[in-house]
Amino acid sequence: MEPLKGLILSGGAGTRLRPITHTSAKQLVPVANKPVLFYGIEALVDAGVKEIGIIIAPETGDEIREAAGDGSQFGASITYIVQDKPAGLAHAVLTAEEFIGGAPFVMYLGDNLLSHGLRGLVSTFAEDDPDALILLTPVDDPQSYGVAELTPEGGIVRLIEKPKDPPSNLALVGVYLFSPLIFDAARRLEPSWRGELEITEAIQTLIDDGRRVQSEVVRGWWKDTGQLADMLEANRLVLEEVEESIEGEVDEDSRVEGRVVISPGAKVVRSIVRGPAVIGPGATVEDAFIGPYTSIGDEVAVRRCEVEHSIVLANSTVEDLGTRMEASLLGRNVKLTRSEGLPKTLRLLVGDNSIIEIL
Ligand code: DAU
Repeated sequence: MEPLKGLILSGGAGTRLRPITHTSAKQLVPVANKPVLFYGIEALVDAGVKEIGIIIAPETGDEIREAAGDGSQFGASITYIVQDKPAGLAHAVLTAEEFIGGAPFVMYLGDNLLSHGLRGLVSTFAEDDPDALILLTPVDDPQSYGVAELTPEGGIVRLIEKPKDPPSNLALVGVYLFSPLIFDAARRLEPSWRGELEITEAIQTLIDDGRRVQSEVVRGWWKDTGQLADMLEANRLVLEEVEESIEGEVDEDSRVEGRVVISPGAKVVRSIVRGPAVIGPGATVEDAFIGPYTSIGDEVAVRRCEVEHSIVLANSTVEDLGTRMEASLLGRNVKLTRSEGLPKTLRLLVGDNSIIEIL
């Protein structure tokens, strides 16, 4: 078999993580201080897939190009492919036809994270040589995904995108291995009820044509990081596996407990950091408590307050909250503080579409 190429889908509109993704790509939101997209690139390279195309949208593409570059930082070669509108996953595949050039390929949704990587799948595909190999996993809310109905023996009966009445709880995970037959199937599609060319329907077309579509249930965990709760959960799962490394400064009045990463240039002063947690390069934690499952981004300052189970993006400041911040995602350059004095009021300058809950 020809070597597999990789196709990562990092276009789309990213409406569900607004306002974070209003100005930037959702695939660049960091999990444990590393952009979600990088986990996908690394998983492909680890499975021996080094020629990678990345689908980008006109609005957020430049930022993705800048972050991932020519791929040399990952030991890969990256080609960027602009998709002019977010017309669906199968539309993205068709946009990449020239890049794929008749090779079999792994398609990876740029906002997905898998704990067990892609090696096993890539070798199954090479050994069995099916026309498509899809990955499935049981979920609690199958109506939010593509769903598979299987025979008792595990054969695929049909695949449906976001069904109102799901025939099973087996969701399609955002990793697919395809032979070039998928292009012909995608070309025959009509837009779905949500106006997109659905990859789920393209795979269904292969099934209807009598082609060999194989499925496998994912090992380990999988997360689609499209929404806040999933993002925090992905952060928790990745931090669960983080290895301790203390390269920044921790003063003698501070305590670092459990698996914690203190990046170079970070300073922890009169504080407690309870892992698993990561503190990014150049960040300052002063008279503060950083609790488990927290990722503090580059150059962030946390002073005189408590932060737990949260993600704080680069260059933000969190000070004097007087209450613990929990299960939160703060964007870049956010300033969150409390000023002294009575009456106790809130004074806010908040961007469009933000969500603030005061408990
Ligand atoms: O996460 C798994 C699910 O992904 C599957 O269960 C569904 O069957 C599949 O349709 C897909 O559903 P979503 O509605 O969650 O896909 P989303 O619109 O979030 O797009 C997934 C990725 O692909 C995301 O990184 C953006 C990118 N994308 C999306 C569209 C619609 C593109 O690059 N171009 C596009 O046109």
